[in-house]
Amino acid sequence: MPKAELHVHVEGTLEPEMMLKLAKRNSIGLKYNSVEEIEAAYNFSDLQDFLDVYYEGLKVLIREEDFYDLTMAYLEKAHSQNVLHTEVFFDPQAHLRRGIEFKTFFDGIWGAMKDAEKKLGITAKPIMCFLRDLDEGSAIKTFKEALVHKKEIIAVGLDSAELGNPPSKFQEVFADAIKEGFLTVAHAGEEGPPSYIWEAIRLLHVSRIDHGVHAVDDPELVEYLARTQIPLTMCPLSNLKLKVVESLKDHPLKTLMDYGVVVTVNSDDPAYFGGYVNENYLAISKALELTKGEIIQLAKNSFNASFMPPQEKENFVSKIDEYVKSKG
Ligand code: ADE
Ligand code: ZN
Repeated sequence: MPKAELHVHVEGTLEPEMMLKLAKRNSIGLKYNSVEEIEAAYNFSDLQDFLDVYYEGLKVLIREEDFYDLTMAYLEKAHSQNVLHTEVFFDPQAHLRRGIEFKTFFDGIWGAMKDAEKKLGITAKPIMCFLRDLDEGSAIKTFKEALVHKKEIIAVGLDSAELGNPPSKFQEVFADAIKEGFLTVAHAGEEGPPSYIWEAIRLLHVSRIDHGVHAVDDPELVEYLARTQIPLTMCPLSNLKLKVVESLKDHPLKTLMDYGVVVTVNSDDPAYFGGYVNENYLAISKALELTKGEIIQLAKNSFNASFMPPQEKENFVSKIDEYVKSKG
C-alpha cells in the first residue's frame, strides 16, 4: 500500500552492518566486533537505556558521505516498502557536540534526499530535532546555525530523554522557529504524562505529536485531539521495545482511532527496534486485529498528516484508492 512515513530518526536507521563498515572506514573503535554482538546489545529496558546505545552508535558518522550513505540506505529501504513520501528527523546537537560541522551532516542528508527523489521518485523532507536533555541555550545556538538551511528544513522537533524535560523548557526556541516560518512537532507522551502533550500543543504550538501514547490516559485530551485533528505519529514496535507498552495488544492506537484521533504508523528507529514501517503496520494490525478499512485509514492519515501541500496530499490519497481498487 502507498504510504508516507512521518516519524523516523535518520540516525536510528543505522543498521549494524553499516555501523561496522563506517567504524572501519573512519577508524573508530567500537565496543562491538560483529553484527551479533551489536544485536545482543539491543535489549532495552527503557528510553534512556536505548538512547545510550543510539548515541554510542552514531559516533561512526563522521564525514558527509557517511550521512549520505546512511540516508540513501534508509530511502531505498522505505521506497522498497512503497513509502512515497517521508519526513525525517535528524539530531544536529548529537553531531555538533562531537565536533562535526552542521554543513557536513546536513549536506550529506540533504544530498541523499535530492538524489533519491531523482532516482526513486520518493520525496523526503528533513525535520531538525533539539535534544531536550540539553539546555535551551544549546537549542537556540543550534537553531541559529540551522538558519542558512531554512529553505530545506521543514520543521523543528523535540526528542531524546523525555522524563524531567517538559516541552515548557523550549518555549523560546520554538517561538523563534515559528517566527522564522518553521512548522513545529514534539515527542510527547512516549514515557511522559499527558501534561507534556498539552504543553507541546499550548506552549510549542505543534502541528503533530510524536508518539502520544499516554494521551489515552486523559479523556479530555483524547476529546481535544479528536476535535482538532492534531495527528499522533505512533511507532508500535518502538513502544514495545522500549517497554512503553508491555504487549502490542495493550497499544492504544486502535482505541484512539475509535475516538476519532488521527493516528499514523511509523518506524522511529527501525535499525534498533526490529522493523521498518511495513513491519510496524503488520505487527500492530495483527495484535489489534485491525480491519482492512482501518489499515487503509492509517495509510490515508499518513498523507493527510504530512507537511505536503494540500493538492499533493489529495493526489497521494487517491493513489491509495487506486491501489485498493486494483487489489479488488
Ligand atoms: N531519539 C531517537 N529515538 C527517540 C525516541 N524514540 N524517543 C526520543 N528520542 C529519540
Ligand atoms: Zn522518535
